[in-house]
Amino acid sequence: MNGSVEQTRQTYQGWDEFYNKDIDEKLDFFKLNGRLFDVIFAQQFDRPFMDYLCKIADMIRLLAQTKMGQEKLRHLLPHKRAMLYFVQPSTRTFLSFQNACYILGLSVSESRGTSTSSEVKGESSEDTIRTFASYVDLIIARHPEAGFAEKTAWVLNQTDRPVPILNGGSGPDQHPTQALLDIYTLERSFQHIGGLDGKKIAMVGDLKRGRTVRSLSYLMKNYNDVSLYFVSPDIFRMKDDIKKFLKKRDIPYYETDDFESVMPLVDAIYMTRIQKEYSDGPSNEADTYPEFHFKKEHLSIIQPHCTIMHPLPRRYEIEVEVDNDPRAAYWQQERNGMWIRAALIAYIFGVESEILSEFS
Ligand code: CP
Repeated sequence: MNGSVEQTRQTYQGWDEFYNKDIDEKLDFFKLNGRLFDVIFAQQFDRPFMDYLCKIADMIRLLAQTKMGQEKLRHLLPHKRAMLYFVQPSTRTFLSFQNACYILGLSVSESRGTSTSSEVKGESSEDTIRTFASYVDLIIARHPEAGFAEKTAWVLNQTDRPVPILNGGSGPDQHPTQALLDIYTLERSFQHIGGLDGKKIAMVGDLKRGRTVRSLSYLMKNYNDVSLYFVSPDIFRMKDDIKKFLKKRDIPYYETDDFESVMPLVDAIYMTRIQKEYSDGPSNEADTYPEFHFKKEHLSIIQPHCTIMHPLPRRYEIEVEVDNDPRAAYWQQERNGMWIRAALIAYIFGVESEILSEFS
């Protein structure tokens, strides 16, 4: 007997109706007292919030440079506990959230799979999350199902113990906190050339199944005169929902499979991996698509200020010889995840003013 039984599927009255609503109609449901409470979609972030969060992240980064600053940060939230529920593999998102919690003094519990929890006995995911809420003050979840974080936040917000849910990646759908760190990285890269406004950004690779490029595309609504270049094999083109969103907001985008033609034009190149874990059949999954790789020889084609990004993990998309070029931002990008996630947690618990006051 292996002891594992089929997971219980519970029916929640009203969930399907809520899930099918337009995103704009749902946003207030994930707020409390006019502030973000749950972080589920990138569309929740507006420009003032983005600028504010980047500022908090800058301050945390500066404070963390000294022992005294680190101690100040650690005393902000020692009375709070967080649960990291990651039932889909992760290195960066898990570790950056975990260390963001440590920076702010939170205690952390973790579950990195369903095999050791009572889900093995058939407990539903919703009851599992509700159980976490009995013990902790914040839940950070990564799950293979699109809509998982949204549903659990929807369930918890109707209980007498709602705790914030932060979406650490929901299937091929959204990765909103990755989009936060991507924007923070872009803003830092362009801080001496006017910031992200007016820039041209290429997104390259599996745009159909990559949740990072989807969430980042949504965030472009907050920036002026940004244009996007979607560079992908035909079978991995950006989905229509994102293109419809961009059209509605007059954000220009161009689609091509000719990567080299785009390289000299853009201010940032955002590389992505072919997402084989979401394979649905028609593509040749053995193909690494080398024409969509960034190679050392391309460093001479791109602009002197062009920043090269990747959410990581990478496979063959960027040659390791590119890593030491000053324009390669992906290692700093993953570290930025820790700063911006610490900023987000500080904001969620309303202690960010104590960080900002250190510099006033
Ligand atoms: N970028 C990102 O989400 O990486 P992990 O899957 O390692 O968390």
